[in-house]
Amino acid sequence: MTHPTRSPVATALLIAGALASPGLATAQTAPAAPMPGAPMSASPMPASPMPAAPMHAAPMQAAPMQAAPMSAAPMSSEPLSAQLVDGLQGVFGTHAGRRRSGAKGFCAVGEFVASGNAERLTTAETLQRNKRSPVVARFSIGGGSPMAPDNAPSVRGLSLSLDNGAHEFVLINTPVFTARTPEGFLAFLKVRAPDPQTRQMNAPAIAAANAANPDWMPQIAYLRDNPPPASYATSAYFGVNSFVFTNRQGQKQHARWTFEPVAGRVGLTPEERTARGPTFLEAELRERVARAPAEWRVLLQIPQSGDPLNDAVAAWPADRPTVEVGRLRISGVQAAGQPGACDAQMFNPVLLPAGIDPSEDPILAIRAEAYAVSLSRRSQ
Ligand code: HEM
Repeated sequence: MTHPTRSPVATALLIAGALASPGLATAQTAPAAPMPGAPMSASPMPASPMPAAPMHAAPMQAAPMQAAPMSAAPMSSEPLSAQLVDGLQGVFGTHAGRRRSGAKGFCAVGEFVASGNAERLTTAETLQRNKRSPVVARFSIGGGSPMAPDNAPSVRGLSLSLDNGAHEFVLINTPVFTARTPEGFLAFLKVRAPDPQTRQMNAPAIAAANAANPDWMPQIAYLRDNPPPASYATSAYFGVNSFVFTNRQGQKQHARWTFEPVAGRVGLTPEERTARGPTFLEAELRERVARAPAEWRVLLQIPQSGDPLNDAVAAWPADRPTVEVGRLRISGVQAAGQPGACDAQMFNPVLLPAGIDPSEDPILAIRAEAYAVSLSRRSQ
């Protein structure tokens, strides 16, 4: 394993928690120089101009340096997908056998049952009335750290493969992504890579980059305003990117996925964050589903004319209509301490049945390629 040593607290403060992919690099590295006044369970808030962020430690007050919006074309000859995986590795290091994001996670199984309400929107086989699809699932924490803490407000992920890959979903628990474009996400990662010599992040540079890239703020703000989930079963999960649904008449409709927990959205209180510690989510879900399946109402949100269709940092207003198209039930979690059956698998957000197509969102367009790069590097 190679991993840049860095202060977990500094990481928590500086990585925007975002990275659907991201998350926190933490416990496997000894604190190099903890920042004053910030507890280990600090919110992974970035050094940014956010007024109410609780951890505005020293770097937050540093005078921002000049920074241009980071959407310029990358200079490398490597494909952008590979540069993005390099960017993840630059922040989190490489961990043999692990995904370059969603590194901490575990497998589960269950079932998806379609209500039939999607039939007016799509011919997709998995969404036809009473269709039952076996599900292989993976719950994860964003970022490339296998030790990412469960009690910090970073991104949580849920990946699903229905009917042996007939239809896959790769979802996160924030309704927006980290950046609007792959280039912007690369810049987000690059500015957070610690200095190879000092192993510290450059807080003034991060503050300046945050100020120059306002599209990074919606996810940061969401993570600031919503506590980390108390259970994987009490979190909503969002598709973030839109998809295009085609019905029998050939009519097309953009829509976005929301998986709403039947148990309600429940976050950790500040006291619970301390009491539960950095590793509890997997055991909690295992014990929960041993009693009864964890369930989600599966919704499609329909935009109004004028809503942005290809912008992963712009959630649609909550009053947009939704259609409940089915239920997800998770009924089993992999055995404790054993390798998971889905470990070697790659979930692909554009593995879709006929009747659903990817939108033109540039973030969605690059994801499968980046995931394949990560898959090819997992043995390294
Ligand atoms: C340019 C944008 C993105 C890049 C470059 C990126 C990159 C990655 C990479 C490299 C992996 C590891 C894949 C593997 O080894 O199988 C990953 C995993 C993951 N990503 Fe992304 N991602 C992006 C956007 C998103 C978005 C928009 C979402 C959700 C809406 C998302 C959710 C996830 C989840 C849940 C995982 C874990 C997958 C698993 O459990 O196997 N990512 N991402």
